[in-house]
Amino acid sequence: MRILITGALGQLGSELAPALRERYGVDNVIVTDIRTDSQSPAVLGGPFYTLDCRDGEALTRLVKKHRVQRIYHLAALLSATAEANPQKAWDINMNGLYAVLETARTEGCSVFTPSSIGAFGPGTPKEYTPQDTLQRPTTMYGVTKVTGELLCDYYHHRYGVDTRGVRFPGIISNVAPPGGGTTDYAVDIYYEAVNKGRYTCFLKGDTYLDMMYMPDALKAAMDLMEADPGRLRHRNAFNVTAMSFCPEEQAAYIRRHIPTFEIDYRIDPVRQAIANSWPNSLEDYAARVEWGWSPEYDLERMTADMLNTLKARQIKHS
Ligand code: SER
Repeated sequence: MRILITGALGQLGSELAPALRERYGVDNVIVTDIRTDSQSPAVLGGPFYTLDCRDGEALTRLVKKHRVQRIYHLAALLSATAEANPQKAWDINMNGLYAVLETARTEGCSVFTPSSIGAFGPGTPKEYTPQDTLQRPTTMYGVTKVTGELLCDYYHHRYGVDTRGVRFPGIISNVAPPGGGTTDYAVDIYYEAVNKGRYTCFLKGDTYLDMMYMPDALKAAMDLMEADPGRLRHRNAFNVTAMSFCPEEQAAYIRRHIPTFEIDYRIDPVRQAIANSWPNSLEDYAARVEWGWSPEYDLERMTADMLNTLKARQIKHS
C-alpha cells in the first residue's frame, strides 16, 4: 500500500505519519506539508515533499510518481483560526479537499478526510448526538466540514471513489500542538500543569465537549481505511468519541497527580460561542457496529499518560 499524507506537520499528521510508516514501511508513506520543518521526525524519517494541497497538478504528479493508492488528507484550518479568517478557511479547507478528490478520481486512490464535532450546530441534539441528525453549523469551520462530508459522499456515489472519514472530537496529544482549535485548552492544560502548576482556561469551567487521546485517533484513522467496505453503510462522517468532559472535571483529574494544581478562567468569547454551538457528547454506535471502533483511553488513563510523558520530558531537558 502506497500512501500520501497532506498537512503532515500538523497535530495529527506528526503522529500519523510515523504510525503509517511503521505499519506500511517507510518508503511507502509519502509525507507532504505546505511548511518545511526539517527538524520534524515526519520530515527526517522518510520521503517528504513541500506541497500546497490546493495545487491539484502538483498533487497528481506526486501521486503518479510514487504510484500512491491512498491519500490521508489532513491539511485544514481549525475552528478558531477559520473564524478569524473565513475566506482563507474556505479556500484551504474546500479547495484543498476538491483537489484531493479530483486526483483520487483520476488516479484511483482511496481518501481519508477528517470531519469534526464542528460539523454540528446549535440546533443539533446536544447529548449523545446521533450519527444521522440535524447539521446546521454556525462557524465557517463547520460549514467547510459539512460541505466536505457531502462532497466525499458525492465522489463515492458518482465516481466510485473509496472515500472514508470520521468526525473527530478534540484530539489530545503531546507531540505537535493543535493550533487554532476550540478544544486546544484540553491539550494546553497538561503542559501548563507540568510547567507552572496552574492554568488559565479560555472556556468556562462547565463547558462539555468530546475528546480523544491521540493513540485512539490514530487507531480510528487506520482501522477505518482497512475496514471491509461491504460493512460500511456510512462512509465519510462516522461519529467517533472516547470521552466527554469539561475543564473543571479535567482539572480535578489532574489534581489526583498534582494536588496543588489550580485553574482559573479568562473566557474568550469567540471560542466560547463556538464551543456552545457544538454537542456536549456524541453517540458513536455506527462506527462500533460498521468497523469495530472501540477507544482505549478515558479521561483517567489519558491524564496519567499525558502527565507522565510531559514530566519525563521535562526531567530529560532540565
Ligand atoms: N479540535 C477542533 C477544533 O477545536 C474540532 O474539530 O477546531
